[in-house]
Amino acid sequence: MRKSLLTALLAAFATTAAAAAPADTGHWQPSQLQGAALLHQPEPTSFGVYYYPEQWPQAQWQRDFDGMAKLGFKFTHMAEFSWTYLEPKEGQYDFRWLDHAIELAHAAGLRVILGTPSAAVPSWMGQRYPQVYRVDEHGQRHEHGIRAEVSLTDPTYKAFVAKIVTAMAERYGHDPRVWGWQIDNEPSTFPDFSDSARKAFQAWLRRKYGSIDAMNAAWGGSFWSTRYGSFDEVLLPNTTLAAEDKLSPHAVLDLARFRADTQAQFLDDQADIIHRYAGNRQWVTTDYTNVSTDTDPRRTRDLDFPTFTLYPVAGTNVLGGDSYAIGKPANLMEAAAYFRTINGTFGVMELQPGQVNWAGINPQPMPGTVGMWLWHAFASGASLVATYRYRHPLSGSEMYHEGIVGTDGVTPSRTGREYVATIRDIKALEAKLDLNAKLPARLAARYTGYLWSQDVFWDLEIQPQTTLWHSWAYRNGYTLAVKTTGAPMDFIRESDDFERYPFLIAPAYQMVSPALVAKWKRYVEQGGHLILTSRTGQKNELGHFPEGPWYAPILDLIGDDVDGFDMLPPNTDGKGADGEVKADGQTHAWHRWADILVPRPGTEVLATYANNYYAGKAAATTRKLGKGTVTMIGVSTDDGALERAIVRSVYQRAGVAIEDLPTGVFHEWRGGYDFMVNYNPMPYDVRLPASANIVHGQTPLVPASVLVWKQP
Ligand code: GAL
Repeated sequence: MRKSLLTALLAAFATTAAAAAPADTGHWQPSQLQGAALLHQPEPTSFGVYYYPEQWPQAQWQRDFDGMAKLGFKFTHMAEFSWTYLEPKEGQYDFRWLDHAIELAHAAGLRVILGTPSAAVPSWMGQRYPQVYRVDEHGQRHEHGIRAEVSLTDPTYKAFVAKIVTAMAERYGHDPRVWGWQIDNEPSTFPDFSDSARKAFQAWLRRKYGSIDAMNAAWGGSFWSTRYGSFDEVLLPNTTLAAEDKLSPHAVLDLARFRADTQAQFLDDQADIIHRYAGNRQWVTTDYTNVSTDTDPRRTRDLDFPTFTLYPVAGTNVLGGDSYAIGKPANLMEAAAYFRTINGTFGVMELQPGQVNWAGINPQPMPGTVGMWLWHAFASGASLVATYRYRHPLSGSEMYHEGIVGTDGVTPSRTGREYVATIRDIKALEAKLDLNAKLPARLAARYTGYLWSQDVFWDLEIQPQTTLWHSWAYRNGYTLAVKTTGAPMDFIRESDDFERYPFLIAPAYQMVSPALVAKWKRYVEQGGHLILTSRTGQKNELGHFPEGPWYAPILDLIGDDVDGFDMLPPNTDGKGADGEVKADGQTHAWHRWADILVPRPGTEVLATYANNYYAGKAAATTRKLGKGTVTMIGVSTDDGALERAIVRSVYQRAGVAIEDLPTGVFHEWRGGYDFMVNYNPMPYDVRLPASANIVHGQTPLVPASVLVWKQP
């Protein structure tokens, strides 16, 4: 099928766009273009808004599209959940309504992003082919009435998806009014225990291990008779069936990998179809859920660039005070750092428009907040920013979700007005950006790489060892600590070039290969400053403990021996215990994790345990190696203040100037301008050099505001 489609496509392209025709490699060859050029747009950042024509009377469509354009939006986004209208009966497609909507959007001056509808199947499909729905961990087959309940391994579902995406790509892949495509919606990997999932898992394992003996060895199959006689016997590990006695962590890790691979393949299959029709004329992306816990954008091969969704205000209060109404501080900062290194271009496909409906508690964003998010996305380099959604729904499961306009369909909401005003302000500055400007030396000197692997994250989550361990919050603690220095920060992977970053941090990077440790060593010897923390290097690349002392892979690198590690029960009702660690005359409480370090000669102690039988032993150390340094932070304190101080000291000892920003105040730089945003509930008095020229905002930087300046 791929081949014949491709042949037809090549023939069709031969006269018009030979250079854009894809080669028959089995995978789309992405364009070398980046950012605005890849997106074929005249502006560095384009702002748009979601619309669901199928949810509104046709008579209102033109008014709505005109309304979006009038408010300053440049594109709209549709069709993502409209399968029941696109294929109302099996095999009978109806594109007339979508043709009409695209035409009206175009007439209003809006570019169109089309969503593929695979996340919400029509009712006839489940009625006739129930196997298209996933089976959950309790053996229950899911059913119609909600989205994303499908089985990504079911051949019937996949065939229906391929058919509708082909029909759409055939119809719109050449349509100049269509700017690009979003595949599916917030791809995720819900547990699926269907027969098709089990067979696919077995096939995946067969490919990975080749022999059942190799798999048994990797999974620790000699333990509790858990080994299998053949791949056909292998079950999908079901953690809900395991209580105190746990399943093999290696089996569970392979399941997470298999699910992410399945999800990536599902996206690639759709992207491949679209590219075969659209060539380089239209781009293809998907909207990942932030730095997701289960999918892995780096496993896809055929998307042009990633985008993500972002809803920072959803009832959580990370920084105290009324910061709950400004949003989780690490969200956008981390997502931008994570997605921009995938291929250099990224977008925010859904940005919270105002109050949402789905959280436990759904507060209003504080005035200023949505505008600050827009500036923050812009400053972080997003090439497009869309908000979900234009109109406030009048019915359906998200009827309490705000839009840019309110329930009357025309009047901008309070937050909608903020969107409009902010886009106008950003556009006024945007024209002055110099996108070829180089990151100034003052910022480049502190550029920091954050080593991240989805596999390592899953491994931590599978064996947390204490209920106080939260891998996500642990990561947030370190990214926020780095950002207090004002450093630019990228999430990078093992295969990336470490030398780009004078500072490299690998928190709780639990599984390490000899090659990674050798790469770290080279990096440090040549002058890099490496920060490792609790759990980093405890396991080898298989997720096993190496036969040797604790933390054997990294002992020579950190210049310590490790006498084991401890964790304590919380002391909320006086029945737990308190751990104490001292540094610089200050005492910090810890409960979560404590590596007991024994420094070797030449290693300097930065923090010391103050109680328990290991009182006096080291909790954090640093050493020089070659031209660089290695710092090991073995303790995880309750409030993270000690870790923050040690992270900051690494830059200071290296003689690199840093800032002293409150947590949640971020300094970004783009195209010759400096930007500062404030997610902290307290105002921050920004002290700029006399030569700095403020072009937007003011200091003190009040909560939920932005300051933009130019500094020679
Ligand atoms: C997102 C989702 C959207 C919409 C939105 C509501 O997670 O992708 O389709 O449901 O939440 O906030």
